[in-house]
Amino acid sequence: MSTTAPWWRSAVIYQVYIRSFADGNGDGVGDIAGLRSRLPYLKSLGVDALWINPWYKSPMADGGYDVADFREIDPLFGTVAEAEQLIEEAHGHGLRVIPDIVPNHTSDQHAWFRAALAARPGSPERERYVFRPGRGPDGTQPPNNWVSVFGGPAWTRLPDGDWYLHLFAPEQPDLNWQHPEVREEFESILRFWFSRGVDGFRIDVAHGLIKDPALPDLPPGPHARHPHWDRDEVHDIFRTWRRLAAEFDGDRAFVAEAWTDTPERLAAYVREDGLHTAFNFDFLMASWDSKDLRTVIDDSLTLLSTVDAPATWVLSNHDVMRHASRYGRKKVTRWSPTEPYRPEGVLDPALGTRRARAAALLMLALPGGAYVYQGEELGLPEVEDLPESVLQDPIWERSGHTDRGRDGCRVPLPWSGRSAPYGFSPDNASAAPWLPQPADWSERTAQAQTGDKASMLELYRTALNLRRDHPALGDSTLTWLDSPEGVLVFSRTPGFTCVVNLSGEPYPLPEHTSVLVSSGPVQDGLLAPDHAAWLAR
Ligand code: GLC
Repeated sequence: MSTTAPWWRSAVIYQVYIRSFADGNGDGVGDIAGLRSRLPYLKSLGVDALWINPWYKSPMADGGYDVADFREIDPLFGTVAEAEQLIEEAHGHGLRVIPDIVPNHTSDQHAWFRAALAARPGSPERERYVFRPGRGPDGTQPPNNWVSVFGGPAWTRLPDGDWYLHLFAPEQPDLNWQHPEVREEFESILRFWFSRGVDGFRIDVAHGLIKDPALPDLPPGPHARHPHWDRDEVHDIFRTWRRLAAEFDGDRAFVAEAWTDTPERLAAYVREDGLHTAFNFDFLMASWDSKDLRTVIDDSLTLLSTVDAPATWVLSNHDVMRHASRYGRKKVTRWSPTEPYRPEGVLDPALGTRRARAAALLMLALPGGAYVYQGEELGLPEVEDLPESVLQDPIWERSGHTDRGRDGCRVPLPWSGRSAPYGFSPDNASAAPWLPQPADWSERTAQAQTGDKASMLELYRTALNLRRDHPALGDSTLTWLDSPEGVLVFSRTPGFTCVVNLSGEPYPLPEHTSVLVSSGPVQDGLLAPDHAAWLAR
């Protein structure tokens, strides 16, 4: 890896879904104290940075994505002083820290929204959000036909007759980014955390901040310009943010959560004067198919290189079905973000694990940076059978119980021991983990896998640590080598080849001096189906 390029061009960033990472105080919910105690684990895993899901004061209507105060840490997770200690200790371990910022909406308990509710329709307090009168003779119809991402209309009516917009839950009113105070407030929040040492931010729903001021109905069929997603004017906001980040020392960086229709539209977020990086969800959405994956890889690299931005690969996060389970079906369907992922066919856990191991080696060998979602290094599957009574994701209620939502990928991590809470909470805990852990996770704990050469954890450790030291890995380019259908082979300079066998036949490894790491045993120079290997040339 080049030592002169900024860290974010090559970084492997570990996603800490803080509610489910490690519980320090025994209340059944993960927290900063738990995270601090596990920093040595993250250091030895070999990642470069941590992205921490929202930890701010929140009524938790959407797991913390409904923020009541961006300058306070929720008491469930700790205090600002503990956050400062965490940042300092992480830095001591060589780990950077990137919190999540949620600029599209606040909680309905935020001081601004409470003031808006207390004020009259048409008052300045309401202008920081998106309030409108309803349609129809009595204003009983919503102002337009927009729908919430979580199901149902995107508008809620107040007793005084005014409606307010929420692209997500009603507890998450959308801010009005045409309002200068909204812009100033977020710049001030960024400074607040930058001056406390954070290394950057993950920007939630970066593609949603600007709405067409006319708030037109969403027309049926395909539309050239969407009235609220991915509008060109969002880039003005991020140009200002980039300049703001540059005022601080030490390469502070942003990563955008931006869902766009095409890779071209995504590239616009990471132009030189825009954000540093953006998640590449096309890779996550691809099926387990060599052609599909190669197309996604090529398109992403080609388009990002036109704006000189690095790619950031991701296989799982807190919003989607874990990839060990997505890949654990014979037929892996291409995922579309407008639909919940519906797996087809019976789960074959061994198949899912095999492919997840191969996918990890593929992802970590690609040019650019990568994200590891907590628990993928333990090979955790989606928990598909959570009882309905424990489901907490607002999607479950908002969809009228037709979509179980995202709780299955958010189950608290198993650290040690033979039974729940598997070391997630301390021995004297006063409460059970906020979501129940499966009874058969004792072999999946970090403790059980440590030192077991065949485990997912040791595969991640080996690959991540190799990646840190290998001069060919991280940022730069790849060259595809000739290979039969179903097999991906690429080389990187100097002296590195990655082979992924997605065909049904064993594949003879190309010329090499040694196998650096493989996702399974290589016998007689043959790589078995659904396996991958890194080779030295
Ligand atoms: C993003 C987050 C998701 C959250 C939503 C609303 O998509 O990743 O978890 O529910 O934004 O803030």
